[in-house]
Amino acid sequence: MTDTAAFDLTIRNGRVSTANDTFHADIGVRDGVIVALGQGLPPGARDIDAAGRWVLPGGIDSHCHVEQLSGMGIMCADDFYSATVSAAFGGTTTIIPFAAQHRGNALPEVVADYARRAEEKAVIDYGFHLILSDPTEQALKHDLPELIKNGITSFKVFMTYDRLKLDDYQLLDVLEVADREGALVMVHAENNDMIRWVARRLAERGMTAPKYHAVAHTPLAESEATNRAVTLARMMDVPILIVHVAGLEAVRVVHSSQALGLPIHAESCPQYLFLTADDIDAPGLEGAKFCCSPPPRDAASQEAVWQGLIDGTLQIYSSDHAPYRFDASGKLPKGDATTFKDVANGVPGLEVRMPLLFSEGVLGGRISIERFVALTAANHARTYGLYPQKGTIAVGADADIAIWNPEREVTISTSMLHDNVGYTPYEGRTVRGWPEVVISRGRIAIENGQLHVERGSGRFVKRGTPEPVLRQRLTGNPNALVRKYFSADSAA
Ligand code: URP
Ligand code: ZN
Ligand code: ZN
Repeated sequence: MTDTAAFDLTIRNGRVSTANDTFHADIGVRDGVIVALGQGLPPGARDIDAAGRWVLPGGIDSHCHVEQLSGMGIMCADDFYSATVSAAFGGTTTIIPFAAQHRGNALPEVVADYARRAEEKAVIDYGFHLILSDPTEQALKHDLPELIKNGITSFKVFMTYDRLKLDDYQLLDVLEVADREGALVMVHAENNDMIRWVARRLAERGMTAPKYHAVAHTPLAESEATNRAVTLARMMDVPILIVHVAGLEAVRVVHSSQALGLPIHAESCPQYLFLTADDIDAPGLEGAKFCCSPPPRDAASQEAVWQGLIDGTLQIYSSDHAPYRFDASGKLPKGDATTFKDVANGVPGLEVRMPLLFSEGVLGGRISIERFVALTAANHARTYGLYPQKGTIAVGADADIAIWNPEREVTISTSMLHDNVGYTPYEGRTVRGWPEVVISRGRIAIENGQLHVERGSGRFVKRGTPEPVLRQRLTGNPNALVRKYFSADSAA
């Protein structure tokens, strides 16, 4: 910064949007933080003219898998470097991936291991959710409370995948701890036995092609488990968030639980807006590229997910980036003999998550720009305890900003992406609008198609109490079914 410059960076003449409003203003940034918003701000050491462009909060992707062993024991293709670079190129400035506990692992060691790898490699800021697969006494009584105090204020639990799934009793234990200690539980809601039962019969009949993944993961397995998760949360009077909602019936379960006034929150992802089960029905093993759980469904479900994002039933739009290469290291562990049961679950999407929604949602006239900001940034920050440090453009917030050119047309192709996956489910799709300049804590991270930040320069962000938990503390029902006997106070 020169002695004469008022700011390290001034972004001028842009059309600024937050989750609440849109206005024309200059932005002054000092020491990584927004320190001024107004007209005709003095020059910065670096001045960016954003005339004709849209200046938005950097995206937050609160559901992505990075350098993680999957539920089937397969390692992701992206490490913390490639994942964060890819995220940044797509306008995302904070990610919240998972520190995944596998059975027998001690939680403090799991988190320390992920923290070490991320600290070494990440180029943008990050937090962690836990994946909790082994809720021992030690975990429930000691480790989780300690980790929550240290800023890991959410954890994901699975109702499916043999290596990760918790039974209902364990889910109740986890909900109780979350309630008492102030964390949000994210639920992967699919009925494991329904899936196993169908999968086995399909396999016995030689129906092993990738397309049968979508048959085994029936929408009923999703809606049943969603309803069960809602019921468990209702019994405990505890908020939960259902991740990656895919099917029309699951959207309806979430919607009707909210209509009852229950604190049920929900997320969906690009694959449920832009793909269907027909994509999995591709020749040979090609369909494996589109296998994720729950799988993309049909046009009616796509429409229900759109509607849910529009009307607020679904508050979060994340990528669920689960990167596996189309080879023996990921999607095809048994080569040509790979059946749908062996295919690594998940699709990539960190980099294209926001451009897809900007193009189809905002420029397509389905959502406002403010709703776009809510779905891609502000709601993630609120839901996971990062607001208002992140997720908005306001004085005092981190200068995490993406400058979008709404006119730029981009045809998505694997070769232009920065992940390590080697394919994209959106190959050949043309989007309008692209984040041309991406700023992470005041640092120009992406400009002119180039990366300008160093490996290891991203920082861990300690998260506060999630807003759904704070809200529940204010509005929860002290006479709810079990709360009156086992309230947070009486357990403390
Ligand atoms: O298929 C998916 N979604 N893979 C990633 C793991 C998960 O369940 O989110
Ligand atoms: Zn999941
Ligand atoms: Zn996931």
